[in-house]
Amino acid sequence: MTRILAITNQKGGVGKTTTSVNLAAGLAQAGMRVLLVDLDPQGNATMGSGIDKRTLSESIYQVLLGLCTAEAARLRSQAGGYDHIPANRDLAGAEVELVELQHRETRLKSALAPLADQYDYILLDCPPSLNMLTVNGLAVAHAVMIPMQCEYYALEGLSDLVNTIKKVRQHLNPGLEIEGLLRTMYDPRNMLAQQVSAQLQAHFGDKVYTTVIPRNVRLAEAPSYGAPAVNFDAGCKGSQAYIALAGEILARSGAAAAS
Ligand SMILES: Nc1ncnc2c1ncn2[C@@H]1O[C@H](COP(=O)(O)OP(=O)(O)OP(=O)(O)O)[C@@H](O)[C@H]1O
Ligand SMILES: [Mg+2]
Repeated sequence: MTRILAITNQKGGVGKTTTSVNLAAGLAQAGMRVLLVDLDPQGNATMGSGIDKRTLSESIYQVLLGLCTAEAARLRSQAGGYDHIPANRDLAGAEVELVELQHRETRLKSALAPLADQYDYILLDCPPSLNMLTVNGLAVAHAVMIPMQCEYYALEGLSDLVNTIKKVRQHLNPGLEIEGLLRTMYDPRNMLAQQVSAQLQAHFGDKVYTTVIPRNVRLAEAPSYGAPAVNFDAGCKGSQAYIALAGEILARSGAAAAS
């Protein structure tokens, strides 16, 4: 069974891409067949997968506009050990161009359908906005993973995202679940982080992953080497946390399948 996860938070810089790339590589290390789709015109997941976004002949932009198939745009991330559909700034135009097209919210869903069963996990790295690209991600996903920093405004932003998920459930994807909330760049010595973390657990219970991603400079350095940190420096604290997260996700899905 393929599981499609949209890694989403409309807030910028919370660790969506770092999570996408390292979770993709962590799941691949665990023997899963993984496809990572970059849905952000910034192309950070593409670069972090060791693929040069400036030299792409095909990307998710052409796929969404129906100019090529997902299979034709798919590449192999050697550095990550997973397959990848890349993005670059071309995608910035897609938002406007999609408005003109029919079935604009479900174009990604149609495009991924022919290859979905080749994978155990398909991860979607969404842009920092609740725009048409994110809606395409939410329309095809089984569940949403929400990386977040434990900061003062984090909970406020979360209610907008939860409302969007509810709307998508009503109109496009009734089965869409919240897979989990991931605390990123976490500093356990920070009192505010502890308080926000406790509030998250009170509100969302076991939807909050037990695994916490610490602030770790190796995670930030890895993209400049064109490799996910979990492959580039598997021993660092950040990589260990992402490997643990992959394990937690696999254990949860195993428990769900058994019940
Ligand atoms: N756990 C971490 N420790 C240290 N730095 C981190 C960590 N996670 C992410 N970063 C760094 O923080 C910045 C933002 O992370 P990232 O790009 O993953 O966030 P994002 O949510 O994808 O951002 P955007 O909204 O722009 O797409 C990057 O420079 C990244 O390297
Ligand atoms: Mg990003």
